[in-house]
Amino acid sequence: MFEDLGSVLRNLYSDNPQKQTGHTARISGPEASAPPSKTIIIAIVNQKGGCGKTTTCINLAAGLAKRGFKVLMIDLDPQSHASLGVNIDVHNLGVSIYDVLVKSTDLNSVIVPTYLNGLDLAPATSLLTGAQLEIADLLGREGLLRTSIWRMLNTHVRHYDYILMDSSPSLNLLTINGLTAAQSVLIPIQAHYFSLEGGRTKMSRDMLAQLKDYFKEKVLQSLIRMNITLAEASAHGKSIFDFDAASNGAKDYRQLTEEILLLTRPELAAAAAAATVTAPERESNSAVS
Ligand SMILES: Nc1ncnc2c1ncn2[C@@H]1O[C@H](COP(=O)(O)OP(=O)(O)OP(=O)(O)O)[C@@H](O)[C@H]1O
Ligand SMILES: [Mg+2]
Repeated sequence: MFEDLGSVLRNLYSDNPQKQTGHTARISGPEASAPPSKTIIIAIVNQKGGCGKTTTCINLAAGLAKRGFKVLMIDLDPQSHASLGVNIDVHNLGVSIYDVLVKSTDLNSVIVPTYLNGLDLAPATSLLTGAQLEIADLLGREGLLRTSIWRMLNTHVRHYDYILMDSSPSLNLLTINGLTAAQSVLIPIQAHYFSLEGGRTKMSRDMLAQLKDYFKEKVLQSLIRMNITLAEASAHGKSIFDFDAASNGAKDYRQLTEEILLLTRPELAAAAAAATVTAPERESNSAVS
């Protein structure tokens, strides 16, 4: 689903004169007042835990990087799973996304390269747990990340084609910062409640049908099958493409990457269509809307 939820939130807050005029000096300035024109900014959210947010963030980011795009992952979860999943040692970082949100540190200076060419990371550490409390009373608190991103991009300190943000399983102030910065929201949904043998496939299909009925074309075509290799890849600090390029997980995330490319860069439609692989019958799905 490519719902323009960021603008919904932006409108919500711009209707509030207190919040609008309350932006402090640290987040004002012309370079941070207009959205960057070329970067596609996506928040990956779901209040439900363990539904594949981080796995999707890492492997979609890696898929886009492998297609030649410059990608930044922003880890907005104090669990640091996205950072750990690309092999960043979060215990030995001088600065992290915490410093951007709480201390007005430039986003540029917390970004680290990953092992994967074209993929950078703004890492999270456990310090982020306290960030919410520390920014809770700030005016404009919901737009701190957006301003940092816009400033970095509009001053051409760094260029990115895509920015993907991983979030924790809660609609907290960190997640709201991600949503406010985003143009689009991607919601991974696990399409079964219980792993009941024999009943699982039907339940997945029924749930997917209901999702499509309700959300219609916002539900993506790509389905991610249950594949333990995805968990193994993350545990080894690698994307699925680098861990096991022939696995079902790699096939599924390759397809998701192509679908997101089609939606976000229609000019690539012709090339991507030629590369589309027909998906086999799926045993179990994660519908991503
Ligand atoms: N398609 C899949 N098949 C098998 N295991 C998967 C799949 N996708 C994710 N996993 C595993 O399931 C667990 C939860 O996935 P993940 O961490 O991506 O979810 P999350 O939504 O980010 O969780 P949280 O809400 O805690 O941040 C992880 O151990 C992950 O490796
Ligand atoms: Mg996660």
